[in-house]
Amino acid sequence: MTVTSKSSNTVWHHATVTRERRALLNEHKSVVLWFTGLSGSGKSTLAHALEERLYQMKYRTFVLDGDNVRHGLCGDLGFSDKAREENIRRVGEVAKLFMEAGIIVLTAFISPFRADRKKARDLIKEDFVEIYCECPLSVCEERDVKGLYKRARAGEIKEFTGISSPYESPETPELCIPTSEQSVDECVDQILEYLVQRGTYSRKT
Ligand code: ADX
Repeated sequence: MTVTSKSSNTVWHHATVTRERRALLNEHKSVVLWFTGLSGSGKSTLAHALEERLYQMKYRTFVLDGDNVRHGLCGDLGFSDKAREENIRRVGEVAKLFMEAGIIVLTAFISPFRADRKKARDLIKEDFVEIYCECPLSVCEERDVKGLYKRARAGEIKEFTGISSPYESPETPELCIPTSEQSVDECVDQILEYLVQRGTYSRKT
């Protein structure tokens, strides 16, 4: 299923409205904030809380969320290693398109494999910001917001991340957020602080 090359007989069309011009219009740069972590580690919560803050400051944003994207674009994919690879490949491509459109993209996918995250990073290049939602498995399991860990432990869900499928934590993420130790607001502040430092979070382009 993995697509490794471009379609044949296609020619890239160059737009006159470039990413740089969109940034001028928007008065901010675009970037991909790639949240990764176990199910229940706070990826979606943080991405949406951060998006809310950015929206209130008139930034153009969009959240690509695992559970939502798997209802449509990736509705044909399961949770085998191969299916997850394809899931993350598609999400990487979509995130890049949104970024080209001038949007601050926030992706919330477990994205458990280093190699797949690296491919997304290589595609998006310097505007890929990996944010590791660091949370012990025991805490995620304790929270069990969706009741999935219980079912995975009972053997009702196969290949469940952290239980019967691996999670490879990032070795050098741009940001590591200890979501079990900080409030959502503190986590959001930590990310905003980082964005200020790297110059994304600025009305000057
Ligand atoms: S990923 O591994 O391919 O990145 P993704 O983030 O899209 O996963 O989807 C994860 C969500 O799917 C979880 O938050 C959970 O709600 C649901 N889910 C269902 N089955 C599984 C499974 N076997 N492993 C992990 N998550 C699962």
